[in-house]
Amino acid sequence: MSTIRKVAVLVGSLRKGSFNRMTAGVLAAVAPAEMQLEILEIGQLPLYNQDDDDAPPAQYVAFREKIRAADAVLFVTPEYNRSVPGVLKNALDVGSRPYGHSAWDGKPAAVVSVSPGAIGGFGANHHLRQSLVFLNVPAMPQPEAYIGGAATLFDKDGNMTNEGTRKFLKGFMEAFAAWIEKILVVR
Ligand SMILES: Cc1cc2nc3c(=O)[nH]c(=O)nc-3n(C[C@H](O)[C@H](O)[C@H](O)COP(=O)(O)O)c2cc1C
Repeated sequence: MSTIRKVAVLVGSLRKGSFNRMTAGVLAAVAPAEMQLEILEIGQLPLYNQDDDDAPPAQYVAFREKIRAADAVLFVTPEYNRSVPGVLKNALDVGSRPYGHSAWDGKPAAVVSVSPGAIGGFGANHHLRQSLVFLNVPAMPQPEAYIGGAATLFDKDGNMTNEGTRKFLKGFMEAFAAWIEKILVVR
């Protein structure tokens, strides 16, 4: 039997009816059985303040522990002004400190960007990867996932109605499962 892998899912949108959150739900549904996906909420995290490093808010402590407990991280994010939404960048910063104690270090990861626009949040996807390089988070290079036209992919209840995209996301999660095993073996 394969080892169960806990995957922390970070969604870069706080919006009710978020296409990214809907996509995260689909990713959980199509993932191989050995992957346990759990969305870690990030909207409750206070804005990172380095003055708090010695006495961190309880929300920081709980968040950092959850990241540490995860085998891998899946980012599902919209693009805001061709970059990563502030709420997601804040979560990256919170998890990265205090200096020398980053919770992200070495975690295998994957990035999915979702937008109603035509280029599928490419800018956010790659800005996020820039931070992940610095954080020593090995992000799966292929397949890439830029999900465009998001407003046409779901019904009013948030179910994915586009079978081609669902199939693509299933293949993406299978590749991510293999990526996790590859990275954890060499760690
Ligand atoms: C502040 C802001 C900036 C945005 N900038 C972009 C952008 O650069 N590129 C893009 O494709 N969509 C942009 N959008 C539109 C979002 O892609 C759209 O609101 C999307 O539905 C957000 O994802 P969600 O449905 O998961 O909340 C922006 C939206 C907001 C609120």
